[in-house]
Amino acid sequence: MKAPYIKITPPGPKAKNYLKLDQKYISSGSGVKLLPIVPEYGEGSTITDVDGNVFIDFLSGAGAAVTGYSHPILVKAVQDQVSKIQHSMLGYTYNIQAITLAQRLAEMSPGKQNKKIAFGLSGSDAVDIALKMARFSTKKSWVITFIGAYHGQTYGSASLSQFQGSLKKDMGPFVSNIVAVPYPDPYRNPWGIDGYKYPDKLTEATINYVENYILGHVVPRDDVAMILAEPIQGDGGTLIPPSNFFKELKKICDKYGILLAIDEVQTGIGRTGTWFGIEHFGVEPDIMILGKGLASGMGLSAVIAHKDIADTTNGSLIFTPAANPIVSSAAIATLDIIEKEKLLANSQEVGSLLLKRFMKLLDKYAIVGDVRGKGLMIALDIVKDKKTKEPDREMTGKICWRAFEMGLILPSIGFYGNCLRIVPPLVLTKDLAEIGADIIEQAIKDAISGKVKKATSTWS
Ligand SMILES: Cc1ncc(COP(=O)(O)O)c(C=O)c1O
Repeated sequence: MKAPYIKITPPGPKAKNYLKLDQKYISSGSGVKLLPIVPEYGEGSTITDVDGNVFIDFLSGAGAAVTGYSHPILVKAVQDQVSKIQHSMLGYTYNIQAITLAQRLAEMSPGKQNKKIAFGLSGSDAVDIALKMARFSTKKSWVITFIGAYHGQTYGSASLSQFQGSLKKDMGPFVSNIVAVPYPDPYRNPWGIDGYKYPDKLTEATINYVENYILGHVVPRDDVAMILAEPIQGDGGTLIPPSNFFKELKKICDKYGILLAIDEVQTGIGRTGTWFGIEHFGVEPDIMILGKGLASGMGLSAVIAHKDIADTTNGSLIFTPAANPIVSSAAIATLDIIEKEKLLANSQEVGSLLLKRFMKLLDKYAIVGDVRGKGLMIALDIVKDKKTKEPDREMTGKICWRAFEMGLILPSIGFYGNCLRIVPPLVLTKDLAEIGADIIEQAIKDAISGKVKKATSTWS
């Protein structure tokens, strides 16, 4: 498949028709529609839209389509399973594929033996499962989360999210006994610490805040069930904490009998070049939450924990279609593909190729304030001024629009909506990565020169 290939200026006439129908029939709550892409089919890391335009995909459905599109092993697994049996509800009967998958996840995830798995359908409900497990097993109620965290849209996960307050507008009250603390973002943090130069200082400031302010005065410290964190904050803007941060956080957890829950919905399943993002930090979490890429985006999530935490009251964590035989087979196929095709290594290699290319843009363009990433989870932070680090959302939207016109699906993200987000399928080839990087540089040049008149929407 030659990519990119722009047959007609996107969005073309067929796409425009769907945009209208979408606006008429799909709830605005179901999406901000950052990009006017109407996919018809996909292959590898490319998407062909309804008008025949072929795009390179740096989004992979928000990091979910880890094995790309139409992967033959995945296609066969799903086809075979649907032709045998498509549903067997965990709440009533047994399910071979779910059991097989649970065993595999228990064995491959970091942490002590005797782990058990509960399944959901999305990252959001899995975060709710984790919250229930933590409260039930500890008989404690409070949770500490991080500013900039995105955990989902169910009431539990939305309450735990600290990202874009507008998403909570007129929907309260939310789940109580949750308190948010600053995330150790090396680039912008409330203490003004340069976390790249002084990572230990940043860790110390954050841990001090958690222990001496929050646990010291704000919450009853013997009533905290869990601290919930993303190992790399995804929607917050690919924020990578100092390497010692999670070890220090775990010490606090152990000191006060608090569970450490790690949200791997975005970072898990190879995204950062390891199976799980937390592996970069050498810590074994008490609870681990997976979603998105687990079944290559087909509606499966999982919470992994020691059996003493994972076992709750019979039936308190059931969802009718969760881990049905089709999505469980898709997950098993996803893990097989990642292993067989060495996609963890690909994520590292293609990711570092991209990171190197983007690092060069830091010196070349005044608007590129920061470049950060691990594996195929990368962000470019677009600013008005390198010194003040003032985010530039408008410029970000223009760069994304220009990239779209040139055939690259490049979304924006971030606490301030000013980051170019690079989360392609893990099957991305070096060739397509280079072409994508060329397009991003050209889009930056065009946006700076004032050539770009439109902009994509950004989170606000
Ligand atoms: C870290 C994290 N947790 C949870 C979620 C929610 O997942 P879902 O949209 O599948 O409900 C997301 C989605 O972006 C996420 O990035």
